[in-house]
Amino acid sequence: MKKIKVTDDNRLLHGGDYNPDQWLDYPDILKEDVELMKAAHTNTFSIGIFAWAALEPEEDKYDFDWLDKVIERIHSIGGRFIMATPSEARPAWMSQHHPEVLRVDAYRRKQLHGARHNHCFSSEYYRKKTQEMNTKLAERYGDHPALLMWHISNEFGGECHCDSCQNNFREWLKNKYNNDLKELNHSWWGAFWSHTITDWEQIESPSPIGENAVHGMNLDWRRFVTHQTIDFYKNEIKPLRELTPDVPITTNFMSDNPEFVPFTALDYSQFAKEVDVISWDAYAPWHTDQEDTATLASRVAFLNDHFYSMKNQPFLLMESTPSLVNWHDVNKAKRPGMHFLSSMQMLAHGSDSILYFQWRKSRGSSEKFHGAVVDHDRSKDNRVFKEVAQLGKAMEDLSDCVVGYQRKADVGILYDVESDWALNDAQGFGLKTKKYGETLQKHYQMFWENNIPVDVISKETAFDPYKILLIPMLYMLSEETAEKISAFVKNGGTVVTTYITGLVDEADLTHMGGWLKPLKEVFGVEPLETDTYYPSDRNSVVYNGKAYEVRDYATVLKLLEAESLGSYEEDFYKDTPALTKNTYEKGQAFYIGARLSDDFHRVFYNELIKTHDLKPALEAKHNRGVSIQARKAEGKQTIFIMNFTEESQTLLLLEEVTDCLTDEVLGGALELAPYETRVVEKRI
Ligand code: GAL
Repeated sequence: MKKIKVTDDNRLLHGGDYNPDQWLDYPDILKEDVELMKAAHTNTFSIGIFAWAALEPEEDKYDFDWLDKVIERIHSIGGRFIMATPSEARPAWMSQHHPEVLRVDAYRRKQLHGARHNHCFSSEYYRKKTQEMNTKLAERYGDHPALLMWHISNEFGGECHCDSCQNNFREWLKNKYNNDLKELNHSWWGAFWSHTITDWEQIESPSPIGENAVHGMNLDWRRFVTHQTIDFYKNEIKPLRELTPDVPITTNFMSDNPEFVPFTALDYSQFAKEVDVISWDAYAPWHTDQEDTATLASRVAFLNDHFYSMKNQPFLLMESTPSLVNWHDVNKAKRPGMHFLSSMQMLAHGSDSILYFQWRKSRGSSEKFHGAVVDHDRSKDNRVFKEVAQLGKAMEDLSDCVVGYQRKADVGILYDVESDWALNDAQGFGLKTKKYGETLQKHYQMFWENNIPVDVISKETAFDPYKILLIPMLYMLSEETAEKISAFVKNGGTVVTTYITGLVDEADLTHMGGWLKPLKEVFGVEPLETDTYYPSDRNSVVYNGKAYEVRDYATVLKLLEAESLGSYEEDFYKDTPALTKNTYEKGQAFYIGARLSDDFHRVFYNELIKTHDLKPALEAKHNRGVSIQARKAEGKQTIFIMNFTEESQTLLLLEEVTDCLTDEVLGGALELAPYETRVVEKRI
């Protein structure tokens, strides 16, 4: 595995997407950029992301001169560049002369040229052209001392339903099902509604005007889309691996927006294996009227931990906004201080960079009002620029106590995108209340409030390093995963799950023998049925003498070996168990049968934290909304103390620490202004 160069020269990366190709007719702007880059304390720029039209203005006629100059200017101020391959957006001549590159949508409509992200992943011509382009980039810039890494395309996503993609889908299925339609029909439960396939050619990708009711097929299609996206990516990186084997490769991942939950269009747990460094684009909806800042902060933390856990190593924040975006319903500006705080939070959770989209606001087209470091006023005196520069300076000063520092957690929460796909496809439960990603974030939040780090892992991650494993709403549960969970508990681990877990196997076929079948022994319960509530329905569960509200889901349980910790207060399952605990060999398994309120989770998880002796990096007392997160190195840790509230907060630090920026020794009462962050060091 390649090491990212940032750890070699010990600098945190600060900068972002730089699109000088928009400004080639404005030499004064290009000159000014370099001056402003220095003033903003920036050092790293991703270039060429959307530059294909400038790099190859006519088929096979290339122009790299302008890019040479841009790179030299960045280099002249000691900056580095992340070289992007431009495959996300093609030049118009290509679609005109080679229409096969255009995608066909699920309605089988060939798309017109436009926007970006609309190339066919199996187009032979496009694959050849991206390789040609990448070869030229590697030959020209591969040895440049300022080259930091490759940035492949941009935010891969989407799908194509053209004939060639259909053929590839069929080939992928033949391979998966050993060329045996009987196997496929069994897996897809083909006898239902006469959906038996008798010829591979009858298979067509899912479509709103065709097949969309075969869940096994929908699931396979999603898997295939991940496979073919990765295959396209692998085709793109081939020349880079050959010509520049030492230059690390990344591609920027993202979240599902605006919900701000894990991305569901691709299986990132598979994609992560193919990149050297994880990077992601975070556009958190700060200051909405939907949730308080602290709750959002915990969801940002969740996503950061998700990206950190993909490789269990620091990641890069590839894109963010210093001010506002242009695609939320309401595009509210970050309040003063929020940019610094939200950026520190990224570093705290394992990012080695703060990079923006984009360096300079466009003059025209669809992103001209999207936040950027340099505004249309070209000034370094405006609030946003000043806050960026202040952050850049702090990052320079903090590099030594952040770069090379890792995260470590005793708690893992399992996010399984395949389960997410299958659950969302399932016709049942509440259409609007499944909310798998949000549910995981709610469970995670209780650890965040206690400053206990949590890894957000996949089913392929080894579970044994953890003391507690959370698997809420793990709708899809294969025998293989069940065995891993069972071994984890047998060896002394604690597992917590909820309603709607273990209903189907990896083919989306229900487990014969009841829900949770593969883990019945471990949990010592049998879920009999799950009741789905209307939004106005309520029930409650009594736990330790206090009633907690139930919404959306309530599972009726039969106790096997488990003991009941709480029961329902209402309905036909009144007084039956809602919450159970089972001791299984050396470990424990908790089943939370109902969707319970945050105050229940708070009490329940606080107890678990105590009984498992989980300790935060820094012993302190504070209100909700303050978060303390740490990165560790040999014998020391850097701790970020962050105030996500709009009020001043007084903390009580029960240990002495040293401020990394001022060398001040802190202990006892510590006052934090609204949105303030202190970064401190502790010897361990
Ligand atoms: C990202 C994209 C950028 C820019 C940004 C705006 O998804 O990669 O190019 O469009 O959104 O927020």
